[in-house]
Amino acid sequence: MKIARFSRIGFILAAAGSAVGLGNIWKFPYITGENGGGAFVFVYLITVLMIGFTLMIAEMLIGYVGRRDSVSNFEELAPRHKNLWKYGGFMSIAGLIIMTFYSPVIGWTFHFVLLSLGSLPASVEVAKEHFTTLLSLDIGTQIFYHTLVFLFVTTVVARGIKGGIEKLNFFLMPVLIVTMGSMFVYATTLSGFTQSWDFMFGVDWSKLTSASLVTAVGHAFFTLSLGMATILTYSASLPKDSNLVRSSLIVIALDTGIALVAGLTLFTFLYEYGASPSAGPGLVFISLPAVFSEMGVAGHFFAFTFFVALASAGLTSAVSLVEPFIQYLVDRFKFSRLKASVASGLFFYIFGIVAILSTSKEYGEILTFGSKNFFDWADFITASVMLPIGGLIMAIFVGHVMQEERVASVLKRDLGFFYPYWYFSLRYIVPIALFVVVLNLVGVLNL
Ligand code: PHE
Repeated sequence: MKIARFSRIGFILAAAGSAVGLGNIWKFPYITGENGGGAFVFVYLITVLMIGFTLMIAEMLIGYVGRRDSVSNFEELAPRHKNLWKYGGFMSIAGLIIMTFYSPVIGWTFHFVLLSLGSLPASVEVAKEHFTTLLSLDIGTQIFYHTLVFLFVTTVVARGIKGGIEKLNFFLMPVLIVTMGSMFVYATTLSGFTQSWDFMFGVDWSKLTSASLVTAVGHAFFTLSLGMATILTYSASLPKDSNLVRSSLIVIALDTGIALVAGLTLFTFLYEYGASPSAGPGLVFISLPAVFSEMGVAGHFFAFTFFVALASAGLTSAVSLVEPFIQYLVDRFKFSRLKASVASGLFFYIFGIVAILSTSKEYGEILTFGSKNFFDWADFITASVMLPIGGLIMAIFVGHVMQEERVASVLKRDLGFFYPYWYFSLRYIVPIALFVVVLNLVGVLNL
C-alpha cells in the first residue's frame, strides 16, 4: 500500500505538532505544580535527554525502514518470531485510549475560547464554581464540544497525511508558536517571573517521591509522543533522504522549549496575582481564567490568545493519536481512509462520552474503579503504563532483535561518531531505566 509522503518540513511540523500538545501547556505546568517544581522538572529533563532522545531515533528508524503501518513493520523487521513481534505494533491502541480523555479536554478549551470573548469568572472561587459545574453537572456542553472535536479530527485524518495532517500543522503550528511566544515575552516583564523561575528551576530533592518519579518519566514519554507508534507511523511517510537525528533534535527542542515557556508563563501570571501553582488539573481552567479576569480588558485578549494556543496544540496532537490505528486498518484490512477514520473516531467518541460521564455528579460513582474514575484511569494507564512499556518494547526490538546491519546502515550515516554510544544506550541504559520505572510502578500501585 503506497502512503502519500510528507515533505521534509511537513514531517517536522507534524511530528512537533504531535509532541507539543495539551501535555505541554495543560499537563506539564500542573503536574510540576503538584510535584513541587524544580526536582521534578530536573528528572523530566534528564529523561527527555537520556531516554527520550535515544528512543525517538529508534522509533523513527522502525517507521523509516519499514515504511508501513506499525504492526506490519514489527512483523517485517523481526528476523525471527514474526508472529509474536507483530503484537508490538498494537501499541497504537494507546492513542485511541488517550483520545478518550484528550478530546474532552480539547472540548474544554473550545468552551474557554468562547468564554474569553464574553465574561471571565471574576475570582478564583467563581472560576472554581464554573469549572466544577462544567465537569460535574454540565454533561451536555461537554458532549457538544467533544462532538465538535470528533468531527474535526475525523475530517482532517480522513483527508490523509498530505491533504489533512500536513496542512493542519502548516496552519496551526505557527499560530501556536506566535501566541505562546508573545505571552512569554510579556511574562518576562512582570515581577512574578523571578518567582516562577525559582519554582521551576530551584531543585529541592525532598519534594521528590517515587510517585513523582514515575509521573516525570511517564510524562517525558507522553509529551514526546513516544511509545505508541505515532512517531513510527509518521516516519513511515518520511522522504527517503531525511536525517533522523536532525529531525529528532528539532522535535525534542521544540517540545521541551514550549513546555518550559508555557510553565514559566503560567506560573508568572499565577504568582503575579497571588494564585497557587499546585491547583491540579484545574490550573489552567480555574486559576488562570481568574487571573485573566483581574487583568481587565487586556486579560480578555490574553485569555483568548492562550486558549486558542491550547486548542491548536491539542488538535495537532489529536490527529497524531488516531493516525497510527487508521494506518493499520488501511494497510492490513484495506479499509478506505474514510472508513478507517470514522471507525477510529467512533471508538474515542463513545468512550470519550464515558470519560465525560465519569467526572459528573450523576454517573461519577458507577464509573469510578478503585482510586480513580474512568477519565483518570485512561490517563494513568496510557501515560504511566502503556507508553513506558511501548518504549521498552521498541528499545529491545531495535537494540536486540533487528539485525544490526539494518540499524547501522541508516544511523551510521545520521549519527556518525556518536553511533556506538547511541546503540549502547539503546541496548542497555534505556531498557534498564524503563524496567526500573515499570517496577517502581508496581510499588506505586501497591500491587
Ligand atoms: N505529545 C502529546 C502531548 O504532549 C500527546 C501525545 C501522546 C500525542 C502520544 C501522540 C502520542 O499532548
